[in-house]
Amino acid sequence: MSDLSLEKNIVEDKIKGLSDKEIGNKYNVNLKFIEKSITKSLGINVSNPSNIKSIKKLIPKDFQLEQNSVWSFKSRGNWATHNGNYRGNWSPYIPRNIILKYSNEWDLVLDYFCGSGTTAVECKLLNRNFIGIDINENAIKLAKENINFSYLFKTAIDFKVGDARNLDSINGNSIDLICAHPPYSNIVNYTHNNDNDLSNYDVNDFLDEIERVAKESYRVLKDNKYCSILIGDMRKNKNVIPLGFWTIEKYLKAGFKLKELIIKRQHNCKTTGFWYTNSIKFNFLLLAHEYLAVFEKSKKGEIDNEKSGTVNILYDEYQKINFIQKDDIQQESTTVWIFEKEDWIANTLNNLIKRYSKGNYLIYNNNKKISDLLIYFYDNHFIGSSDDFDTYLENEGILAIICEDDRLNNHLINSSPVYVEKFFNKNKKLKIKEIVVVQIKDLNNLNNINEDLNINHKYIVIYKKV
Ligand SMILES: C[S@@+](CC[C@H](N)C(=O)[O-])C[C@H]1O[C@@H](n2cnc3c(N)ncnc32)[C@H](O)[C@@H]1O
Repeated sequence: MSDLSLEKNIVEDKIKGLSDKEIGNKYNVNLKFIEKSITKSLGINVSNPSNIKSIKKLIPKDFQLEQNSVWSFKSRGNWATHNGNYRGNWSPYIPRNIILKYSNEWDLVLDYFCGSGTTAVECKLLNRNFIGIDINENAIKLAKENINFSYLFKTAIDFKVGDARNLDSINGNSIDLICAHPPYSNIVNYTHNNDNDLSNYDVNDFLDEIERVAKESYRVLKDNKYCSILIGDMRKNKNVIPLGFWTIEKYLKAGFKLKELIIKRQHNCKTTGFWYTNSIKFNFLLLAHEYLAVFEKSKKGEIDNEKSGTVNILYDEYQKINFIQKDDIQQESTTVWIFEKEDWIANTLNNLIKRYSKGNYLIYNNNKKISDLLIYFYDNHFIGSSDDFDTYLENEGILAIICEDDRLNNHLINSSPVYVEKFFNKNKKLKIKEIVVVQIKDLNNLNNINEDLNINHKYIVIYKKV
C-alpha cells in the first residue's frame, strides 16, 4: 500500500470510530503516524474527528483553588465543552486556577497558543474578556465551536489566526493576564508543513522562537500583572532535555520575574510492569511532571539569580538526620518521587545510591576523592567553576544536586534548579540526565491563606560524566 492510500485508510477508519490501538494493529503503524495522517488530511490533530459535544454540567464539582506548589488532578476535567479530543490540550483545571488566582472579573486575558480554546471556555465561565490566537485556522474554528454554548453573562471573546511571535494587533500594556500552553518543541505536531508552527521546530530553534514570544508577552502585558506558561521536558537517548528550565530562562531574560514555579504531575505514566522493568534496566526515569511557571511583570527588587541571600536550609536538614544506607528499597521509576517529611532525605539518598552507585558514592566531597556518585545539597552558591565537579567523578559517574525553590521576602521565587542547570550547562563533560521532583507529603498545606503557594517540593538535578 502506498503511503498516500495508507493515510487515506487510516483517516477513514478514524472517522468510523476505530481507536488508535485498533488502527495501529491493523496497519502496523505507530501513534505519530496516525496523528500525522489525521493532521495532514483534516488540518487539525484530533483523536476523534467525529466528536459530538454534549454538556452535562457547566462547572466542576467540588472545585477548590490549589494551595501548594505541586498540582495533581485526578481527572482531566470534562465540564462545559471540555474534552481531550484536541491532542496535547491542557486540563481546564490549569487555566481555571490561574484565571481565578491572577485576574479579576471583566479583565482581559490572552492565550496566544489558543488551540481548541480551553482557556477561552474558562474565561467565558468566569466572566473574563478574552483574546485567543493560534497559527492554525482549524484550531481557531474548533475553539469557536467550543465556546458556542449559552451562559448567563456575556464576555467579549475574540479569536484570531496569528503568530505568538508577533502580537502587532495588540497594544503594549493592554493585557491583564497571559495564560498559554506552547507546543513542547516537536513532541506533538499541530499542523502539517506550516513553517510558522513552533511544533515543527527542533529544540534550539524552538528556544530562539520562544524568546521572541517572551519579549512580545512582556510588551503586551500591563505592569504588575502575570503571565503563566505550561511547559514540559523532553527525552532523547535516555537523557532528559530540560526544555522547561530553558524556556523559563527565556522569559526571565525578557524581563519577567518568577512568581511561582508549579509542578503539574502527569498521570499517564506507567509505574509497573514493562516500563518499570525498562526504567531500571536502561536506567532512565519516565517523565511524570511538567512546569507551570507564573511570571510577574514588575520592577520589584531586581533579583540577581546568581546570588541569593537565603540561608543554607537543605544542608541543615541533612545534618540533622542520621543517614543509614538501605539496600532493600522499592526503586522509583518516574520523575516524581513522593515521600513523607520525616524520611524524604533518607529515601532520596537511598534511591540515588541504589540506581546510580556500585558502592563508591560520596555525599559532599570534602576530601577530594574519586567516586561513582557524588551528591550535593545545594546551598545557594557553588565555590569555583563547574569544571571542578567532573574531576572527582569516575567515568560515567553521576553528579546529583539536591535543591529547592526559595520564597524571597518580596514574594517572588528564586529557583535554584534553574540556576544549577545554567551553571553546569557550561561543563561539556557533564551531560544532564534527569530532573527529579521530590514531593513532600507532610508539607501539604490545605489551609494556606497566603497569596503565595506553599512550596511542597524539592528537585534533584542529575548529570552524567561523558
Ligand atoms: C499545546 S497546544 C495548546 C493547546 C491548548 N491549551 C488547548 O487546551 O487546546 C499549542 C498550540 O500552539 C499553536 N501554535 C504553534 N505555533 C504557533 C505560533 N507561532 N503562534 C500561535 N500559535 C502557535 C498550535 O497550533 C497549537 O494549537
